[in-house]
Formats: sequence, structure tokens, C-alpha cells
Amino acid sequence: MRIDILTLFPEMFESPLNYSILKRAQEQGIVAVAVTNIRDFATDKYHKVDDKPYGGGPGLVMMPGPHFVGFEPVAKLGSRAPTGRGRPARESRAGCPRHGRVILLTPQGQRFDQAKARELAGEDRLILIAGRYEGFDERIRIGLNAEQISIGDYVLNGGELAAMVIIDAVVRLLPGALGDEDSAKDDSFSVGANNHSPLLEYPQYTRPEVFRGMKVPDILLSGDHAKIAQWRRQQARERTKQWRPDLLESRDESSS
Ligand code: 6GU
Repeated sequence: MRIDILTLFPEMFESPLNYSILKRAQEQGIVAVAVTNIRDFATDKYHKVDDKPYGGGPGLVMMPGPHFVGFEPVAKLGSRAPTGRGRPARESRAGCPRHGRVILLTPQGQRFDQAKARELAGEDRLILIAGRYEGFDERIRIGLNAEQISIGDYVLNGGELAAMVIIDAVVRLLPGALGDEDSAKDDSFSVGANNHSPLLEYPQYTRPEVFRGMKVPDILLSGDHAKIAQWRRQQARERTKQWRPDLLESRDESSS
């Protein structure tokens, strides 16, 4: 997968992309991430990227020009990761390189969740555009044919942190990213074998067997894998009921 980020603050992405799973996935050629500074595409000598809203009101609105000029070279790139391990670029329409999904990060967007993460993980390419200030000139959304995603019902100072959240959630779903192919399967919110609604993850324990008087449940030491699996399913249901009952409302209890 190739992910492009268009932002006014490219430095914000340096640290999150350079640790742990995201770092390893890039080193292994599973994902390539490129950050483009929208300000580099400003057309005036002051590198202006935002201006007062027509009709009045507080704050500044991101101008369409730098987004369009910055987007075009990014969109022309193929989907192949620079390391060469990605799938080759496909053509969607004649002569038009397939650039995948174009996503504006804005609180107006559709709420991001695990289902959306899975959907995006199936793409060859993502182009994420992070906004600042009071928002985007509407023509950016329309002209770039962008969908909008929000990471929750609260307002952030910009889309950069939201873009990082999305990248983190998507990359860990790419084949090979976690090393252990099973690790994402039992995560909270992952869909179970019958495709039923998500449950929270069951409790985990590691050594020592007794820590400050708290003992690991006997069942986990029993070696009985069927019993352990049953116990984990029951724990997952109980925890979901206690902590996130809203998740159970859409769930068909007979399927679990
Ligand atoms: Cl994507 N952007 C901003 N500015 N605020 C948010 C958000 C995005 N998602 C939730 N709040």
C-alpha cells in the first residue's frame, strides 16, 4: 500500500511513523508513506495557504489553489511502494492512473471505525488530506472528489492526529505488518468467525503466575484449549456487556 499525506505540518508525522509496527511495515515494504507539505504549492510569495471566509466569520479557511496544485503530482504516482513490493499501479479509466481513495480529515466526516479500517486496508493507495483552521474551501472536497472521515465527535485543532490514527489502524491490518498473522484477529472490535458484531477483547495474562497476590485464572494454566477458548468468549461477552453495552445492541446473541 502507498499512503500520501497532504498537510501544513509534515514534521508532526515524523515521530509516529518511526516506531514499532509502522516503522517495521515501511522497512519491509508493506507500506510506503509519503508526506507532502501543502505550503510548498502556495502560489504567492508569502506562501499563503489560508484566507478569510467569504461572507464573514471567525478564523481562516484553507484555499483551494495549493491543494489542487499539490494534489496533482501526488495523484499521478502509481500505487507501487518505492521498495517495489507493492502491487503495480492499475489503471481505472483510460490514461487515468488509479490513485485510490482521497480522504479529507474533518469533523464533518463519516465516523472512523474498525469496519472502515478494514475497508481502507483493502486499497492500494490512500491520499489523506489534513485540514487546519476553520476548515477547507468547499471546492477542495468537490474538486478532488474526496470522501470525508472524522475520528470521533469532538473537535481537534487539525486533521493530522486523525490521519495518524487512521494510518495506525489500517497498517496493522495489512498482511505481514504484525508479524504474527493471528494477532489482529482477536483484537477488540475485530469481527468473529460468524461475521457477528464486535466484542471487546478477553483479558490477557503473562508471567508471573502470581503478582502481588493476584493470580492468573486457573483455566489459562490448564492446557485445555477448548475450555480456554470458551472461557475467553464468555469473558469477552461479559466485558462488552459491562463496559460497552452499546456494542451488543446490534449483535445477534444467538450467533455467539
Ligand atoms: Cl478528522 N479533524 C478535526 N479537526 N477534528 C476532528 C476530526 C478530524 N475527527 C474528530 N475530530
